[in-house]
Amino acid sequence: MNRLIVLGTGSTLPTKVLSNAGLEQMVDTSDEWITTRTGIKFRRIASVGEHTSKLASSAARNALEMAHLGSADINMIIVGTITPDMGMPSCACLVQKELSAVNAFALDLNAACSGFVYCLDVAEKYIKVDPSMKILVIGAETLSSRVNWEDRNTCVLFGDGAGACVVSGSADDHRGLLASKLFSDGSLYKLLYMDSAPSMNKDLLSKDHDGSYIKMAGRDVFKYAVRSMEMAILNVLEREQVPIDDIALIIPHQANIRILKSLAERLGVASEKVYINLDKYGNTSAASIPIALDEANREGRIKPGDLVLLCAFGGGFTWGASLFRW
Ligand code: UT7
Repeated sequence: MNRLIVLGTGSTLPTKVLSNAGLEQMVDTSDEWITTRTGIKFRRIASVGEHTSKLASSAARNALEMAHLGSADINMIIVGTITPDMGMPSCACLVQKELSAVNAFALDLNAACSGFVYCLDVAEKYIKVDPSMKILVIGAETLSSRVNWEDRNTCVLFGDGAGACVVSGSADDHRGLLASKLFSDGSLYKLLYMDSAPSMNKDLLSKDHDGSYIKMAGRDVFKYAVRSMEMAILNVLEREQVPIDDIALIIPHQANIRILKSLAERLGVASEKVYINLDKYGNTSAASIPIALDEANREGRIKPGDLVLLCAFGGGFTWGASLFRW
Protein backbone atom coordinates (compact mmCIF):
# COMPACT_ATOMS: atom_id res chain seq x y z
CA MET A 1 0.00 0.00 0.00
CA ASN A 2 1.26 3.50 -0.82
CA ARG A 3 1.58 5.66 2.25
CA LEU A 4 2.09 9.40 2.63
CA ILE A 5 5.56 10.15 3.99
CA VAL A 6 7.07 13.46 5.08
CA LEU A 7 10.21 14.44 3.15
CA GLY A 8 10.81 17.78 4.85
CA THR A 9 9.35 20.21 7.37
CA GLY A 10 9.66 23.98 7.71
CA SER A 11 8.21 26.90 9.61
CA THR A 12 8.35 30.68 9.76
CA LEU A 13 7.34 33.08 12.50
CA PRO A 14 7.12 36.87 12.16
CA THR A 15 9.93 38.61 14.03
CA LYS A 16 7.69 41.01 15.96
CA VAL A 17 6.99 39.66 19.46
CA LEU A 18 4.02 40.72 21.60
CA SER A 19 4.41 39.76 25.27
CA ASN A 20 1.74 39.54 27.96
CA ALA A 21 3.27 42.71 29.42
CA GLY A 22 2.63 44.41 26.08
CA LEU A 23 -1.01 43.28 26.17
CA GLU A 24 -1.37 44.73 29.68
CA GLN A 25 -0.85 48.14 28.03
CA MET A 26 -3.60 47.46 25.49
CA VAL A 27 -6.52 45.81 27.36
CA ASP A 28 -7.62 45.13 30.95
CA THR A 29 -5.62 41.96 31.46
CA SER A 30 -2.56 40.67 33.33
CA ASP A 31 0.39 38.41 32.69
CA GLU A 32 -0.83 36.35 35.66
CA TRP A 33 -4.32 35.80 34.14
CA ILE A 34 -3.05 34.94 30.69
CA THR A 35 -0.32 32.61 31.97
CA THR A 36 -2.47 30.67 34.43
CA ARG A 37 -5.58 30.45 32.19
CA THR A 38 -3.83 29.74 28.88
CA GLY A 39 -0.09 29.06 29.31
CA ILE A 40 0.66 31.73 26.70
CA LYS A 41 3.53 34.17 27.36
CA PHE A 42 4.30 35.56 23.90
CA ARG A 43 2.83 35.60 20.42
CA ARG A 44 4.27 36.72 17.06
CA ILE A 45 2.57 39.49 15.08
CA ALA A 46 2.92 39.95 11.33
CA SER A 47 4.22 43.35 10.22
CA VAL A 48 2.89 45.35 7.27
CA GLY A 49 3.46 43.31 4.10
CA GLU A 50 3.99 40.08 6.02
CA HIS A 51 0.88 38.45 4.58
CA THR A 52 -0.23 34.88 5.18
CA SER A 53 1.08 33.88 1.73
CA LYS A 54 4.52 35.32 2.52
CA LEU A 55 4.80 33.39 5.78
CA ALA A 56 3.48 30.26 4.04
CA SER A 57 6.01 30.60 1.19
CA SER A 58 8.89 31.07 3.59
CA ALA A 59 7.87 27.98 5.62
CA ALA A 60 7.53 26.05 2.35
CA ARG A 61 11.05 27.06 1.25
CA ASN A 62 12.44 25.70 4.53
CA ALA A 63 10.59 22.42 4.03
CA LEU A 64 11.79 22.15 0.42
CA GLU A 65 15.36 22.73 1.55
CA MET A 66 15.13 19.91 4.08
CA ALA A 67 13.61 17.65 1.42
CA HIS A 68 16.39 18.60 -1.07
CA LEU A 69 13.72 19.53 -3.62
CA GLY A 70 13.10 22.59 -5.76
CA SER A 71 9.82 24.43 -6.33
CA ALA A 72 9.49 22.91 -9.80
CA ASP A 73 9.33 19.43 -8.23
CA ILE A 74 6.04 20.28 -6.51
CA ASN A 75 2.80 19.04 -8.12
CA MET A 76 0.26 20.37 -5.64
CA ILE A 77 0.06 23.05 -2.94
CA ILE A 78 -2.64 22.91 -0.31
CA VAL A 79 -2.90 25.62 2.35
CA GLY A 80 -5.03 25.35 5.48
CA THR A 81 -5.96 28.89 6.46
CA ILE A 82 -8.81 31.07 7.66
CA THR A 83 -6.81 34.24 6.99
CA PRO A 84 -5.94 34.21 3.29
CA ASP A 85 -4.49 37.47 1.94
CA MET A 86 -7.56 38.03 -0.24
CA GLY A 87 -11.03 36.61 -0.91
CA MET A 88 -9.72 35.53 -4.31
CA PRO A 89 -7.24 34.19 -5.37
CA SER A 90 -6.52 31.52 -2.81
CA CYS A 91 -3.52 31.86 -0.53
CA ALA A 92 -2.17 28.68 -2.16
CA CYS A 93 -2.15 30.35 -5.60
CA LEU A 94 -0.15 33.24 -4.16
CA VAL A 95 2.29 30.74 -2.64
CA GLN A 96 2.60 29.08 -6.05
CA LYS A 97 3.41 32.48 -7.57
CA GLU A 98 5.87 33.37 -4.79
CA LEU A 99 7.73 30.06 -5.14
CA SER A 100 7.45 29.91 -8.95
CA ALA A 101 6.11 26.40 -8.46
CA VAL A 102 5.16 26.23 -12.11
CA ASN A 103 4.18 22.55 -12.10
CA ALA A 104 1.79 22.74 -9.17
CA PHE A 105 -1.94 23.28 -8.90
CA ALA A 106 -2.99 25.07 -5.74
CA LEU A 107 -5.96 25.30 -3.40
CA ASP A 108 -6.94 26.49 0.07
CA LEU A 109 -8.85 24.54 2.67
CA ASN A 110 -10.83 26.11 5.51
CA ALA A 111 -11.08 23.86 8.54
CA ALA A 112 -9.99 26.56 11.02
CA CYS A 113 -7.54 25.21 13.63
CA SER A 114 -7.93 21.69 12.21
CA GLY A 115 -6.74 22.92 8.81
CA PHE A 116 -3.42 21.09 8.79
CA VAL A 117 -4.75 17.63 9.67
CA TYR A 118 -7.52 18.15 7.11
CA CYS A 119 -4.96 19.14 4.43
CA LEU A 120 -2.83 16.09 5.22
CA ASP A 121 -5.86 13.85 4.83
CA VAL A 122 -6.66 15.36 1.42
CA ALA A 123 -3.00 15.10 0.31
CA GLU A 124 -3.00 11.44 1.31
CA LYS A 125 -5.85 10.71 -1.11
CA TYR A 126 -3.79 12.14 -4.03
CA ILE A 127 -0.69 10.24 -2.91
CA LYS A 128 -2.63 6.98 -2.85
CA VAL A 129 -3.57 7.51 -6.51
CA ASP A 130 -0.12 8.75 -7.57
CA PRO A 131 2.67 8.08 -5.03
CA SER A 132 5.20 9.96 -7.14
CA MET A 133 3.44 13.27 -6.41
CA LYS A 134 5.27 15.84 -4.29
CA ILE A 135 2.81 17.95 -2.34
CA LEU A 136 3.34 21.02 -0.17
CA VAL A 137 0.98 20.81 2.80
CA ILE A 138 0.91 24.14 4.62
CA GLY A 139 -0.87 25.69 7.60
CA ALA A 140 -0.55 29.48 7.68
CA GLU A 141 -2.33 32.31 9.48
CA THR A 142 -2.17 36.00 10.26
CA LEU A 143 -4.88 36.00 12.92
CA SER A 144 -3.65 39.30 14.29
CA SER A 145 -5.50 40.88 11.37
CA ARG A 146 -8.79 39.30 12.45
CA VAL A 147 -8.90 39.71 16.24
CA ASN A 148 -10.58 42.60 17.97
CA TRP A 149 -7.69 44.22 19.82
CA GLU A 150 -10.19 45.70 22.31
CA ASP A 151 -11.65 42.30 23.25
CA ARG A 152 -9.56 40.79 26.04
CA ASN A 153 -11.47 37.50 25.74
CA THR A 154 -9.84 36.77 22.38
CA CYS A 155 -6.96 39.14 21.61
CA VAL A 156 -4.62 37.59 24.19
CA LEU A 157 -4.97 34.13 22.63
CA PHE A 158 -3.92 34.31 19.01
CA GLY A 159 -0.71 34.75 17.02
CA ASP A 160 0.67 34.58 13.47
CA GLY A 161 2.92 32.05 11.74
CA ALA A 162 3.21 29.27 9.19
CA GLY A 163 4.38 25.67 9.02
CA ALA A 164 4.82 23.37 6.05
CA CYS A 165 5.61 19.81 5.04
CA VAL A 166 6.68 18.35 1.73
CA VAL A 167 5.00 14.98 1.41
CA SER A 168 5.17 12.18 -1.12
CA GLY A 169 4.41 8.46 -1.36
CA SER A 170 6.25 5.36 -0.21
CA ALA A 171 5.56 1.71 -0.94
CA ASP A 172 6.98 0.85 2.50
CA ASP A 173 3.84 -0.16 4.38
CA HIS A 174 5.45 0.27 7.79
CA ARG A 175 6.09 4.00 7.73
CA GLY A 176 4.26 7.21 6.95
CA LEU A 177 0.66 8.20 7.64
CA LEU A 178 -0.90 5.07 9.13
CA ALA A 179 -4.33 6.48 9.92
CA SER A 180 -6.23 9.74 9.64
CA LYS A 181 -9.74 10.52 10.84
CA LEU A 182 -11.67 13.78 10.45
CA PHE A 183 -14.90 15.00 12.05
CA SER A 184 -17.15 18.07 11.70
CA ASP A 185 -20.22 19.41 13.49
CA GLY A 186 -21.54 22.56 11.85
CA SER A 187 -24.49 22.74 14.24
CA LEU A 188 -22.16 24.18 16.89
CA TYR A 189 -20.61 26.86 14.70
CA LYS A 190 -21.91 29.73 16.83
CA LEU A 191 -19.55 28.82 19.67
CA LEU A 192 -16.56 29.85 17.53
CA TYR A 193 -16.87 31.89 14.37
CA MET A 194 -15.63 34.83 12.36
CA ASP A 195 -18.02 36.91 10.25
CA SER A 196 -17.18 37.17 6.60
CA ALA A 197 -15.99 40.45 5.17
CA PRO A 198 -18.96 42.65 4.22
CA SER A 199 -20.57 41.43 1.00
CA MET A 200 -23.91 41.55 -0.81
CA ASN A 201 -25.14 38.82 1.52
CA LYS A 202 -25.85 41.03 4.52
CA ASP A 203 -28.26 38.40 5.88
CA LEU A 204 -25.29 36.11 6.49
CA LEU A 205 -23.71 38.51 8.96
CA SER A 206 -24.53 37.82 12.61
CA LYS A 207 -26.81 40.28 14.39
CA ASP A 208 -24.00 41.52 16.60
CA HIS A 209 -21.68 42.02 13.61
CA ASP A 210 -19.16 44.68 14.58
CA GLY A 211 -16.34 43.81 12.24
CA SER A 212 -15.01 40.50 10.90
CA TYR A 213 -13.51 39.43 14.20
CA ILE A 214 -13.12 36.06 15.85
CA LYS A 215 -15.85 35.39 18.44
CA MET A 216 -15.65 32.53 20.89
CA ALA A 217 -17.64 31.07 23.77
CA GLY A 218 -14.34 30.01 25.35
CA ARG A 219 -15.59 27.82 28.17
CA ASP A 220 -17.85 25.73 25.90
CA VAL A 221 -15.17 25.43 23.22
CA PHE A 222 -12.73 24.28 25.89
CA LYS A 223 -14.91 21.30 26.86
CA TYR A 224 -15.59 20.25 23.29
CA ALA A 225 -11.89 20.60 22.41
CA VAL A 226 -10.75 18.19 25.13
CA ARG A 227 -13.44 15.57 24.49
CA SER A 228 -13.23 15.77 20.70
CA MET A 229 -9.44 15.48 20.46
CA GLU A 230 -9.52 12.53 22.86
CA MET A 231 -12.21 10.86 20.75
CA ALA A 232 -10.27 11.40 17.50
CA ILE A 233 -7.05 10.04 19.01
CA LEU A 234 -8.75 6.93 20.40
CA ASN A 235 -10.35 6.36 17.01
CA VAL A 236 -7.06 6.24 15.06
CA LEU A 237 -5.31 4.21 17.77
CA GLU A 238 -8.09 1.64 17.77
CA ARG A 239 -8.11 1.40 13.99
CA GLU A 240 -4.37 0.64 13.95
CA GLN A 241 -4.46 -1.42 17.17
CA VAL A 242 -1.76 0.80 18.69
CA PRO A 243 -1.65 1.15 22.50
CA ILE A 244 -1.32 4.76 23.68
CA ASP A 245 1.88 3.83 25.56
CA ASP A 246 3.59 3.13 22.21
CA ILE A 247 3.19 6.76 21.11
CA ALA A 248 6.52 8.63 21.26
CA LEU A 249 5.09 12.14 20.84
CA ILE A 250 1.70 13.83 20.58
CA ILE A 251 1.70 17.09 18.64
CA PRO A 252 -1.64 18.74 19.37
CA HIS A 253 -3.16 21.99 18.22
CA GLN A 254 -1.80 24.64 20.59
CA ALA A 255 -4.77 26.54 22.05
CA ASN A 256 -4.51 26.30 25.83
CA ILE A 257 -2.12 24.54 28.21
CA ARG A 258 -5.07 23.47 30.38
CA ILE A 259 -6.71 21.76 27.38
CA LEU A 260 -3.47 19.88 26.69
CA LYS A 261 -2.96 18.86 30.34
CA SER A 262 -6.54 17.67 30.57
CA LEU A 263 -6.15 15.72 27.32
CA ALA A 264 -2.94 14.06 28.55
CA GLU A 265 -4.64 13.14 31.83
CA ARG A 266 -7.65 11.59 30.12
CA LEU A 267 -5.41 9.58 27.79
CA GLY A 268 -3.10 8.55 30.65
CA VAL A 269 -0.08 10.00 28.85
CA ALA A 270 2.94 11.59 30.58
CA SER A 271 2.99 15.34 29.93
CA GLU A 272 6.56 15.05 28.49
CA LYS A 273 5.03 13.16 25.56
CA VAL A 274 2.88 16.15 24.61
CA TYR A 275 4.74 18.75 22.54
CA ILE A 276 4.07 22.29 23.74
CA ASN A 277 5.21 25.60 22.25
CA LEU A 278 2.11 27.73 22.83
CA ASP A 279 3.96 29.71 25.49
CA LYS A 280 6.04 31.23 22.65
CA TYR A 281 3.47 31.61 19.88
CA GLY A 282 -0.07 31.46 21.30
CA ASN A 283 -2.80 29.93 19.17
CA THR A 284 -1.80 30.13 15.49
CA SER A 285 -4.85 28.14 14.30
CA ALA A 286 -4.02 26.00 11.23
CA ALA A 287 -0.33 26.87 11.57
CA SER A 288 0.11 25.56 15.10
CA ILE A 289 0.58 21.85 14.35
CA PRO A 290 3.00 22.22 11.39
CA ILE A 291 5.07 24.80 13.32
CA ALA A 292 5.26 22.41 16.31
CA LEU A 293 5.98 19.44 14.02
CA ASP A 294 8.86 21.31 12.39
CA GLU A 295 10.31 22.37 15.74
CA ALA A 296 10.02 18.86 17.17
CA ASN A 297 11.62 17.43 14.03
CA ARG A 298 14.53 19.89 14.05
CA GLU A 299 15.06 19.42 17.80
CA GLY A 300 15.43 15.66 17.24
CA ARG A 301 12.34 14.93 19.32
CA ILE A 302 11.08 12.64 16.54
CA LYS A 303 13.26 9.73 15.45
CA PRO A 304 12.80 7.38 12.48
CA GLY A 305 10.39 4.63 13.50
CA ASP A 306 8.67 6.73 16.20
CA LEU A 307 4.89 6.73 16.40
CA VAL A 308 3.68 10.34 16.30
CA LEU A 309 0.13 11.56 16.81
CA LEU A 310 -1.25 14.87 15.52
CA CYS A 311 -4.62 16.07 16.81
CA ALA A 312 -6.62 19.23 16.29
CA PHE A 313 -9.85 20.96 17.16
CA GLY A 314 -11.26 24.20 15.78
CA GLY A 315 -14.08 26.32 14.42
CA GLY A 316 -16.73 24.59 12.39
CA PHE A 317 -16.58 22.64 14.62
CA THR A 318 -13.87 20.55 12.99
CA TRP A 319 -11.54 18.06 14.60
CA GLY A 320 -9.37 15.11 13.74
CA ALA A 321 -6.22 13.08 14.34
CA SER A 322 -3.38 11.65 12.24
CA LEU A 323 -1.14 8.76 13.28
CA PHE A 324 2.35 8.56 11.74
CA ARG A 325 5.19 6.09 11.86
CA TRP A 326 8.07 8.55 11.27
O1 UT7 B 1 -8.27 27.10 18.67
C1 UT7 B 1 -9.62 26.76 18.57
C2 UT7 B 1 -10.14 26.24 19.80
N1 UT7 B 1 -10.06 27.23 20.85
C3 UT7 B 1 -9.89 26.81 22.07
O2 UT7 B 1 -9.71 25.64 22.25
C4 UT7 B 1 -9.98 27.80 23.21
C5 UT7 B 1 -10.80 27.19 24.32
N2 UT7 B 1 -11.06 28.05 25.46
C6 UT7 B 1 -10.10 28.53 26.27
O3 UT7 B 1 -8.94 28.34 26.05
C7 UT7 B 1 -10.52 29.27 27.52
O4 UT7 B 1 -11.92 29.10 27.70
C8 UT7 B 1 -10.18 30.77 27.50
C9 UT7 B 1 -8.69 30.95 27.66
C10 UT7 B 1 -10.66 31.40 26.21
C11 UT7 B 1 -10.86 31.48 28.67
O5 UT7 B 1 -10.49 30.87 29.91
P1 UT7 B 1 -11.62 30.52 30.98
O6 UT7 B 1 -10.93 29.98 32.14
O7 UT7 B 1 -12.62 29.62 30.30
O8 UT7 B 1 -12.21 31.94 31.32
P2 UT7 B 1 -13.69 32.47 31.14
O9 UT7 B 1 -13.98 32.74 29.69
O10 UT7 B 1 -14.64 31.59 31.87
O11 UT7 B 1 -13.56 33.86 31.89
C12 UT7 B 1 -13.31 33.92 33.28
C13 UT7 B 1 -13.16 35.38 33.67
C14 UT7 B 1 -14.28 36.27 33.14
O12 UT7 B 1 -14.57 37.21 34.16
P3 UT7 B 1 -15.89 37.05 35.07
O13 UT7 B 1 -17.03 37.08 34.10
O14 UT7 B 1 -15.74 35.73 35.76
O15 UT7 B 1 -15.80 38.22 35.97
C15 UT7 B 1 -13.66 36.96 31.97
O16 UT7 B 1 -14.24 38.22 31.73
O17 UT7 B 1 -11.95 35.91 33.14
C16 UT7 B 1 -12.24 37.14 32.44
N3 UT7 B 1 -11.30 37.28 31.34
C17 UT7 B 1 -10.11 37.91 31.48
N4 UT7 B 1 -9.52 38.51 32.52
C18 UT7 B 1 -8.30 39.03 32.32
C19 UT7 B 1 -11.43 36.84 30.07
N5 UT7 B 1 -10.32 37.17 29.37
C20 UT7 B 1 -9.50 37.82 30.22
C21 UT7 B 1 -8.25 38.42 30.08
N6 UT7 B 1 -7.67 38.99 31.15
N7 UT7 B 1 -7.57 38.40 28.91
